[in-house]
Amino acid sequence: MRAAWLMAGILVGCSDVDTKQGDTDVITDTDNTPAEPGECISDAFWTFGNQESPLMHPGDACIECHTALGEGPAFRIAGTVYSEYDEPDDCNGLAGIEVEIVDDEGTSWTTTTNSAGNFFFRTSQMNPVWPITATVRRNGNEISMLTPQSTGDCSTCHTWNGDNGAAGRIVAP
Ligand code: HEC
Ligand code: HEC
Repeated sequence: MRAAWLMAGILVGCSDVDTKQGDTDVITDTDNTPAEPGECISDAFWTFGNQESPLMHPGDACIECHTALGEGPAFRIAGTVYSEYDEPDDCNGLAGIEVEIVDDEGTSWTTTTNSAGNFFFRTSQMNPVWPITATVRRNGNEISMLTPQSTGDCSTCHTWNGDNGAAGRIVAP
């Protein structure tokens, strides 16, 4: 499954680049990432703005916004799990997916995504020794982030088009 998704991501990226190279309007964009977010698989979006909720803004950078606005709970770790790499912001992800965080000393914390696909740990719930790695599990399959990271705001990298080297969203295996 993992390989299939990875391939799909690469294929979408390539065909996109091809289209663009044939299109004189956007010929400068040779980035190997999709130009637009893909389908929202759940077909359900968060539409309540900044109304406080554990289901709010799936796919957006939770910690960045709470910190910038000085509102909302202080999270150590927060993110959203999806079916596919290129799902759009505010699109509900997958519920009931296990996410494990392992810190630099091997201590681990596990949680499960809520109905929006969001997961989080408050600062009062954990205090990892950075950097951390992460594993996502579904039905006995797992997919891990092997590169240790020093921020727990998962969606700053796991955007629909992937930032800082990430392929895109955090996807369930
Ligand atoms: C664009 C800004 C923004 C983003 C992105 C955002 N939040 Fe919030 N969040 C807020 C604000 C503002 C509040 C406080 C609202 C209030 O007090 O009325 C809040 C409050 C909350 C609360 C408190 C609810 C309660 O019952 O006490 C939770 C939980 C929460 N956010 C979770 C998240 C999660 C999880 C994410 C990411 C998937 C996220 N937020 C992303 C702005 C944001
Ligand atoms: C600073 C950027 C960054 C942050 C923050 C980040 N990641 Fe990643 N993530 C990456 C990169 C780069 C990869 C690809 C390399 C790898 O697998 O180690 C990746 C890969 C993954 C993978 C494997 C994906 C795949 O398809 O192979 C999972 C699962 C994952 N991350 C989960 C998380 C979780 C959970 C968080 C938040 C606790 C998180 N990541 C935070 C950059 C980040």
